[in-house]
Amino acid sequence: MRILGIETSCDETGVAIYDEEKGLIANQLYTQIALHADYGGVVPELASRDHIRKTTPLIQAALQQAGLQAEDIDGIAYTCGPGLVGALLVGSTIARSLAYAWNIPAIGVHHMEGHLLAPMLEDNPPQFPFVALLVSGGHTQLVRVDGVGQYELLGESIDDAAGEAFDKTAKLLGLDYPGGAALSRLAEQGNLERFVFPRPMTDRPGLDFSFSGLKTFAANTINQAIKQEGELTEQTKADIAYAFQQAVVDTLAIKCRRALKETGFKRLVIAGGVSANKQLRQSLAGMMQQLKGEVFYPQPQFCTDNGAMIAYTGFLRLKQGEHSPLEIEVKPRWAMTELNAI
Ligand SMILES: Nc1ncnc2c1ncn2[C@@H]1O[C@H](COP(=O)(O)OP(=O)(O)OP(=O)(O)O)[C@@H](O)[C@H]1O
Ligand SMILES: [Mg+2]
Repeated sequence: MRILGIETSCDETGVAIYDEEKGLIANQLYTQIALHADYGGVVPELASRDHIRKTTPLIQAALQQAGLQAEDIDGIAYTCGPGLVGALLVGSTIARSLAYAWNIPAIGVHHMEGHLLAPMLEDNPPQFPFVALLVSGGHTQLVRVDGVGQYELLGESIDDAAGEAFDKTAKLLGLDYPGGAALSRLAEQGNLERFVFPRPMTDRPGLDFSFSGLKTFAANTINQAIKQEGELTEQTKADIAYAFQQAVVDTLAIKCRRALKETGFKRLVIAGGVSANKQLRQSLAGMMQQLKGEVFYPQPQFCTDNGAMIAYTGFLRLKQGEHSPLEIEVKPRWAMTELNAI
């Protein structure tokens, strides 16, 4: 079985082909980051228009990369939510139309289930059950995962997502959107002792997160530093980046440890854009070693949005005979707990 995957939920157009026997045989990605950078965030209408321009050429490129023709494809997987409605509509319309023309089934995939299952594409995939920490631009969730489609939400952010907090703090430090990765690079030059940021919501029980206060804390720290030093030096920026990142990483680690204790599981999966963060990976690897457990994550290119995770997730569901009706329906808001177990 060969599945074509199409991802257009936000500002990346991703197309990939997953082959049941050979694994991933094509992967194409176009990122709109440069298009939105001038605006400091994603402009939904521009995102939709760019997906229209890029999706079909990327499908052609993916077929060419795999050395396949349209008739070699057995099913299509497309992101149908959650995400930007216009962007989702582009991928869904193209996917449904192609499936109709090629007379093959198609399935609408949940974008966060795609992120969650992305580590399955690695050579050493995690076994079920596990705790998943999903940390992306729009989500921060701790999920108990007993199998594909068997998800229980243990906790989530009550305000900003971890990636959003990274991006907003990066912006305060004068870095281009989306600044998460750049902030992390800047933090490498930071002084460990100079600033200490709070670890929000770790002093009370529960598995929810709150990151919006950290951005305010960063803003206040920046203002104070400017008052004292007259301007924000590169070193001060790096020191703030370090302290901010450390606070996010510690907070995530504390909650992961709690979730593992609560479930009794020994395996932790991290996925989504922020799971590319080196400090987070290091910290969780150390913690899991201490707990005599294991941590799993996708390779960096499959942490952020991509077509591979959608092709793979769609493959698992299409293989079970699941598919979506012919109507073009998107679900901009969609809880992962509504998915069927397979
Ligand atoms: N090394 C890094 N350190 C911290 N944050 C990072 C790093 N690399 C990427 N990010 C952040 O990851 C986010 C993008 O991830 P992703 O593409 O998974 O999110 P999204 O698709 O926009 O959101 P969602 O999946 O919730 O809809 C951005 O906020 C970006 O700053
Ligand atoms: Mg995403």
